[in-house]
Amino acid sequence: MRKPIIAGNWKMNMTPSQAKELIGELKPLVQDAKCDVVICPPYVDLALAAELIKGSNIRLGSQNIHWAEKGAFTGEVSANMLKELGVEFAIIGHSERRQYFGETDETVNARAKAAIAAGITPIICVGESLEQREGGKTEELVKAQVEKGLEGIAAEDVAKLVIAYEPIWAIGTGKTATDEQANETIGVIRNTVAALFGTDTAAALRIQYGGSMNPKNVKGLMAMPEIDGSLIGGASLKAVDFSQVVNYDA
Ligand code: PGA
Repeated sequence: MRKPIIAGNWKMNMTPSQAKELIGELKPLVQDAKCDVVICPPYVDLALAAELIKGSNIRLGSQNIHWAEKGAFTGEVSANMLKELGVEFAIIGHSERRQYFGETDETVNARAKAAIAAGITPIICVGESLEQREGGKTEELVKAQVEKGLEGIAAEDVAKLVIAYEPIWAIGTGKTATDEQANETIGVIRNTVAALFGTDTAAALRIQYGGSMNPKNVKGLMAMPEIDGSLIGGASLKAVDFSQVVNYDA
């Protein structure tokens, strides 16, 4: 049985003082969650967040990670810096990074390898645009993103990582994929992993859905057999909403 994992992607929101307030509200509300609970604040909030979540069941993720260990990469942050802060997960290849910051499947792959080498679990994001979905290209695109994103990673490491299926047209739009659409594409992702790394690896790997998930639609999505959790944007910025998503089965 795969343990569900629900992660909040705060994106570029929350100053340190706002982060402190949100985490303070969140801790008691999620303390009985049966899933893994992760928050991914901006870099500047991570050190403070790491202190604030000590002794709680909330775990820490970053929103990106660089592929080099150190060096002349102005503005970037390396895996060992994050590891030292207590970061356990890193979102990699979010569609906003792909769209606005030139992220490619190759850089996603390099970042994922760096995360794994440092003992950080990648949350690798894949997903199609509306045009690609309407053009019947979803399966082909998502397969290619998975193949390239995971290239050269050992099966035992693939088994431990997380993939987030996030259709771009559902992110921040209030338009969710139907339970069946999300389940079907996540099934395609799992089959792709099975073909590349074997069925045991595919059965162990956790695959989240992301895109306008909220307290109202979480139950239906989480009831689908292929969906092992979610990556939450907007609804992760309010303690009550995020806790209701996390406690979907309470
Ligand atoms: P959303 O964002 O929940 O606001 O749609 C999800 C994401 O981008 O990870």
